Amino acid sequence: AVSVFTPKDLLGCHIMVTAGPTREQIDPVRYISNYSSGRMGFAIAAAAQQRGADVILVAGPTNLTVPVGVRCIPVFSAKEMHTAVFEHFDDVDVIVKAAAVADYKPVDSKPQKMKKSSEDLILYLEKTSDILTELGRLKKNKVLIGFAAETERLLAHAAEKLQKKNLDLIVANDITMEGAGFDVDTNIVRFLHADGKIEELEKMSKANVAQQLLNRVALLWKAKQS
Ligand code: CTP
Ligand code: CA
Repeated sequence: AVSVFTPKDLLGCHIMVTAGPTREQIDPVRYISNYSSGRMGFAIAAAAQQRGADVILVAGPTNLTVPVGVRCIPVFSAKEMHTAVFEHFDDVDVIVKAAAVADYKPVDSKPQKMKKSSEDLILYLEKTSDILTELGRLKKNKVLIGFAAETERLLAHAAEKLQKKNLDLIVANDITMEGAGFDVDTNIVRFLHADGKIEELEKMSKANVAQQLLNRVALLWKAKQS
């Protein structure tokens, strides 16, 4: 038998992970979404549970199986994700926002299937609320981790989000790189810390990225406890 030693360094830690895309309904048969698979967030939830944390996973629609021992709250829209996150805000010490939340949604979702006409269609979209920015304003001594998936100016964009959203750490990845991004099992990430430190990681499995991230989370969490 193979025995794998898992440090229980997150015992007593209450962590919320958001994962996957959101879906913004246009009508009963159509929606706006993105390519997020949910794999990175599910890997973090699984690894955190194995390391002893109490894990709540707020997940948009994915094809993934909820890791054993993880409490999953399924959601569809950005609005539902917002509600679920703030319902559990007071109960957690750490929040990892791996979800790819829609930035815009149709102003009015039609109750009936829209019929095509001879005209082109203009779809009016309104902004969703930025969950992570709101969390950053309320965070007190919680550990707040964000993600930035970018196609250009990776470090500049990620650093700006780290600062604007009042995060402890942001995971930056360039989704145009081979072996990084949405629908693959590996990722190539950088960790940008609030103190300006930047760590470049090699290409590795999303399971290993999760472990590397949780190493940093464990330290940040412990530092805020004392
Ligand atoms: N995020 C969020 N709520 C939103 C949009 C984003 O909580 N409505 C979170 C994501 O979960 C992620 C982080 O903010 O952890 C960065 O998301 P991203 O889409 O990269 O950044 P935006 O601020 O939306 O900027 P842009 O899409 O213009 O790059
Ligand atoms: Ca966005």
